[in-house]
Amino acid sequence: DGFSADKLFNQGFSYTYDDVIFLPHYIDFPVESVNLNTKLTRNISLSLPCVSSPMDTVTEASMAVGMASLGGIGIVHYNNSPSEQASMIKSAKSHRIPFCSDLVFKSPSDSILSDSDFSSSPFVLVTESGTSKSKLVGVVSKSVWGNLTDKESRVSDYMVKSPISAPSVLEFEDVVEYMVQKEVDNVTLLQEDGKVVNFVTSEDVERIRGYPKLGLPSLGSDGNYLVGAAMGTREQDKERLEHLVKAGANVIVLDSSQGNSIYQIEMIKYIKRTYPELDVIGGNVVTQYQAQNLIQAGVDGLRVGMGSGSICTTQEVCAVGRGQATAVYKVASVADHSGVPVIADGGISNSGHIVKALTLGASTVMMGGFLAGSNEAPGSYEYKDGRRLKKYRGMGSLEAMTKGSDARYLGDKAKLKIAQGVVGAVADKGSVLKFVPYTMQAVKQGLQDLGASSVQSAHDLLRSRTLRLEVRTGAAQVEGGVHGLVNG
Ligand code: XMP
Repeated sequence: DGFSADKLFNQGFSYTYDDVIFLPHYIDFPVESVNLNTKLTRNISLSLPCVSSPMDTVTEASMAVGMASLGGIGIVHYNNSPSEQASMIKSAKSHRIPFCSDLVFKSPSDSILSDSDFSSSPFVLVTESGTSKSKLVGVVSKSVWGNLTDKESRVSDYMVKSPISAPSVLEFEDVVEYMVQKEVDNVTLLQEDGKVVNFVTSEDVERIRGYPKLGLPSLGSDGNYLVGAAMGTREQDKERLEHLVKAGANVIVLDSSQGNSIYQIEMIKYIKRTYPELDVIGGNVVTQYQAQNLIQAGVDGLRVGMGSGSICTTQEVCAVGRGQATAVYKVASVADHSGVPVIADGGISNSGHIVKALTLGASTVMMGGFLAGSNEAPGSYEYKDGRRLKKYRGMGSLEAMTKGSDARYLGDKAKLKIAQGVVGAVADKGSVLKFVPYTMQAVKQGLQDLGASSVQSAHDLLRSRTLRLEVRTGAAQVEGGVHGLVNG
């Protein structure tokens, strides 16, 4: 009944996730026993197959903390200076609890009414210099601040002096216990050198406790969150690499829309020579030929996808790419022989797409648009027509390229800039700490329907031709979605 993947994907068509559907198999285990442990690269394991994309509207410190605390990993983008990227990595790695507060700093002599960005945070932290770099001397709450009208008021007149603080190495439950012990409803977390890392309120504690519990967080051998970093393949990226390594990046993603290039192959070899312990993910690729070249060069992971992202226009602009289901299946077939895990990058808009990606051979999925509306994504929410939205833009959009991301499209030396992506917005989704666990529970149910109790077992069932699939006609796709309802 149905087709093996081998047969289905060798007929001259380029299929994407929505084109194909799996036939259900046999269930002989409960959904709780589906295990999502997987590999990001040859040497890095994760307890969830989720990776956040290195895009400037998706992954900075807060997303990296959220993803690692869930058991996935965030790849910090590089549309910034090397030191900015390094400080995002350091910041993410200095957290032990699953979120980053929005920290606003002031110095004691600052005027209270001078700052409008204060509204984003319920508290202002007062340090000697008014930056995160100097010693904490006080805290002012927004409720005090909001009632003041006197322009002469100084922060020092209203701050609570010597606020309660705790070491940033404490785990979440230890922080909570400390707050109970000290009978306080907020606490500042400090590094050994006195630098402020985070600020926790009793509302944060309630919020975090309300989220579903998942597997183990992703920790490196140093006990800190695993954090990845993206970079390009130009000569000056070697200097960026030094910053990333010093900041403690656990894995490097060489970011290119067409990864099978002499530039990338030379950079892979350079990194493996210079930092033999550091895992390198190459890509993007969509064909077996591209994949083989990068595997030969020594990559530890392969990122798959070209033009399938929600903000991508590469296939239209350059006439190059591949349907994402075909790309994942084809690349995974060769990567698996070499023990190189595959990251299915782009085109994920529901849990079913994740089940398909993982079953077709990917070990993890990389997501941009799916995560961009979360609290953890950079930027603040905007309102449009009564809806709460966050900006999401392609790294090949003119707007992002103006900031420097054109190297990804090898267009940095070109005089005429051609966009391969668009700028848009996505709906507010709340915290990744809430919606990712729900999504992953749905993925477990999908794998259970296929009789696969793990990602590896899904791969094995597909390769052994036990799992069968078919192409859906246009009408079958309509039937597979919600249809026939009268709206409102
Ligand atoms: P999703 O579907 O998760 O896709 O939003 C995210 C992935 O899309 C890629 N990306 C781009 N591709 N033009 C492109 O053709 C762009 O401007 C662009 N920006 C990001 C990237 O692989 C990302 O992970």
